[in-house]
Amino acid sequence: MQTIPTIFRQDYCPYPFKISHLNLIFDLDAAHTHVHSEMLLTRVNPGSDLLLHADGLSLLSIHLDGRELSAVTDYVLNDDGLRVLNPPESFTLSIVTQTQPDQNSTLMGLYASNGNLFTQCEAEGFRKITYFPDRPDVMTQYTVELRADAEQYSVLLSNGNLVDEGVLDDGRHYAKWIDPFKKPSYLFALVAGKLVCQEEKFILASGREVLLQVWVEDGNLDKTQHAMESLKNSIRWDEQRFGLELDLDRFMIVAVSDFNMGAMENKGLNIFNTKYVLANSRVATDIDYANIESVVGHEYFHNWTGNRVTCQDWFQLSLKEGLTVFRDQEFSADMIGTDSGRAVSRIGDVRTLRQVQFSEDAGPMAHPVRPDSYVEINNFYTVTIYEKGAEVVRMYQTLLGRDGFRKGMDLYFARHDGCAVTCDDFRAAMADANGRDLAQFERWYSQAGTPVVTVKSHYDTDLQQYTLTLRQSCAPTPGQTDKSPFHIPVTVGLLDSNGQEMPLYLVGESSAQASCVLELTDIEQSFVFDRIPALPTPSLLRNFSAPVVLEYAYSDTELAHLLAHDSDAFNRWEAGQRLATQRLMQLIKSVQAGEALSLDSLYLEAVGLVLNDENLDPAFRELVLTLPSEAMLAELSAEIDPHAIHVAREYMRQQISAHMHKDFYQVYQANQTMGVYSPDAISAGKRGLKNLALAYLVSNDADEQMISLALTQVHEAQNMTDRLAALAVLVRTGDECAIEPLNDFYQDFADDALVIDKWFSLQASSPKTDVELVRQLMRHPDFNLHNPNRARSLIFSFCHANPVQFHAKDGSGYAFWAEQVLALNAINPQVAARLVRVLDHWRKYQPALQARMQDALLTVANSVGLSKDVQELVVKMLK
Ligand code: ARG
Ligand code: ZN
Repeated sequence: MQTIPTIFRQDYCPYPFKISHLNLIFDLDAAHTHVHSEMLLTRVNPGSDLLLHADGLSLLSIHLDGRELSAVTDYVLNDDGLRVLNPPESFTLSIVTQTQPDQNSTLMGLYASNGNLFTQCEAEGFRKITYFPDRPDVMTQYTVELRADAEQYSVLLSNGNLVDEGVLDDGRHYAKWIDPFKKPSYLFALVAGKLVCQEEKFILASGREVLLQVWVEDGNLDKTQHAMESLKNSIRWDEQRFGLELDLDRFMIVAVSDFNMGAMENKGLNIFNTKYVLANSRVATDIDYANIESVVGHEYFHNWTGNRVTCQDWFQLSLKEGLTVFRDQEFSADMIGTDSGRAVSRIGDVRTLRQVQFSEDAGPMAHPVRPDSYVEINNFYTVTIYEKGAEVVRMYQTLLGRDGFRKGMDLYFARHDGCAVTCDDFRAAMADANGRDLAQFERWYSQAGTPVVTVKSHYDTDLQQYTLTLRQSCAPTPGQTDKSPFHIPVTVGLLDSNGQEMPLYLVGESSAQASCVLELTDIEQSFVFDRIPALPTPSLLRNFSAPVVLEYAYSDTELAHLLAHDSDAFNRWEAGQRLATQRLMQLIKSVQAGEALSLDSLYLEAVGLVLNDENLDPAFRELVLTLPSEAMLAELSAEIDPHAIHVAREYMRQQISAHMHKDFYQVYQANQTMGVYSPDAISAGKRGLKNLALAYLVSNDADEQMISLALTQVHEAQNMTDRLAALAVLVRTGDECAIEPLNDFYQDFADDALVIDKWFSLQASSPKTDVELVRQLMRHPDFNLHNPNRARSLIFSFCHANPVQFHAKDGSGYAFWAEQVLALNAINPQVAARLVRVLDHWRKYQPALQARMQDALLTVANSVGLSKDVQELVVKMLK
């Protein structure tokens, strides 16, 4: 392996030049595109040469103030850029480059997809388009002219406003766009191709009219309505919640089927993975609808948190991503509107955080929300930057209140609009707007790892005082052995024996609250509550007020009490999960010891009450009845045994199913949704609960009657949610009953790529699908490793979502993993690197599996031609 340089946060230096304008002309063609760039530079900081980034470009010509530069005396070209020697103080630089979009399989820079052309520039893709300081703190005003064949590229889009269009002498056509706002290069975008749009005029809060467009390939206009609705809701929400208005006359969303990530917030021209745009009831599930709403919101909200105020350098990535995820989470919760809906949405967010981010924080790739170094920035678009970053932002709101948080946001924009800033600037705005000292809060940005908060309680009958003692610790992470205490908001409530909330009088305070935020700043602190007449049950870390692991020695009866009564719906769910997790961890041990398995009635009765409580939101009941995933149980295991985890969880599912068969059947019948499909939270919740009931009903696979219930649902389903759920249940049986419905499904949707992704994914993630079947599916004519959605639907679904088969004892899953990592590495390093992360935790597995994983890792590590992306990860994992 060759050594690759590490970039350090400490080495940040401002760019020595200001670039007031960038004028770009594109002669677009899939085989050879020419880019003419002209920029006006002025020196603002001392330094000598001018450095411009480049990645895989061919330089056709370069002129300074009209004079052609010489490669001998005026500039030096190397692998990652161009150095202009001793430039004047102020000058114009004109450069012509050539790229080959149809040869670009990385999907970064300018690339072709289904005959159309798209760009993806974040983080460092602009340097694959032209020579430029490709860093977020260099902000410039862009003028862009696109020229192309009028038929093949009938639509020509870029950022900002369309100012001119017409026909060229040679018969091609052109379009000229000006973005009135300065922006960093990562927010540049262009789209050229045969596309159609749904458009609408929309009136902003100020009364200004704007044009909204959703662009898709011909034939998909029947799937754009939900994205358009989501966009309008996002615009309204940002006006109402944060007083932020759309600043352009035109806002476009474009869907592309080859895309590395979810979507991209290019100024005024958001480019989306088709997966997060296209939906109608025939092809999209309730989850798809919810994801579309949240991603449309996320990208739209970036217009202020990311674009108007951007990042100084990529170490500050969470400044925009954590904040924008927080905003999209709040948006999704507000769209549901009800308290229980809000809790359901919060539970979903926390589930991801715990399952994915906590495990990242406990592995070789653990990094702070604001990292100190990286090799390849694309490897840092992580759950830590995004989801933990969002939790960090949420904690400001928990500490400062909603109004205080809003004041902080207002000050942040007042101070930094149009600038490239840091996480410290955001924290300072929150502190200053509220007159609060948030110095210690900085550790959430600088220290990696998940803090553990251990709580002990003491009740003094004589004094009628209840004391909670909180103690925090945080395990070492790579490069950080000793951690200093965090500033942790712990929201608590106390329940009496009837399940009623006790008024809380913290010692020294005269007014009572139902819930209060304890601020843990020391390693250990005690909080005393007065006027507590009897021993309470504590409800701790309500609404998951901090991204920590909370330990408290709850008894089963206390948990059942919380599950039945807590006014904090999040903690009600949490109590049920604690009950389930304790049992599952015990069952795993019994499986390993070869003991007989059993499940007690306390658990079954406690969750049975929730299942049958028709006053509760169906979506909430579904969540309570959903067992912690195998991935979550792996995360909680000291030594991971995927087979024992699978057996234990399946056993518990069957016990639940057997004991509550009648209840599930009743719930199944009672939660049918009739009439026209609607993706609203109530209807989706009913379908979710009904389909969970179906999955339980079929989990005793011998039951022919239940299988025919699922078959009927497959045949009669009026929407994709119901059809896919029933099909999944059948596939999971591994029985012949699934063959025909699977074939029908394929036939019915053969021309819809996103549905065929579901078809692959469903099979790949079934515990009955082994690696041989996955290899067979890879030979299917519809499989294509170049398309990230398709690669994810089959390969990632198998490696990520099918642990019992992926971790086959003979190591065949790992050998497959190594092959696919290497195959993807040659095509698309970003996608390859995502697949590498599947083995993050190889050191936590049983020794026999560990040895085989190490072999697979070494196979990759010892291969030639590794991308920076893959190399950084395998080096860190093997360290
Ligand atoms: N900023 C985009 C979003 O979160 C993600 C872009 C990531 N791109 C990448 N190449 N890593 O909305
Ligand atoms: Zn984002």
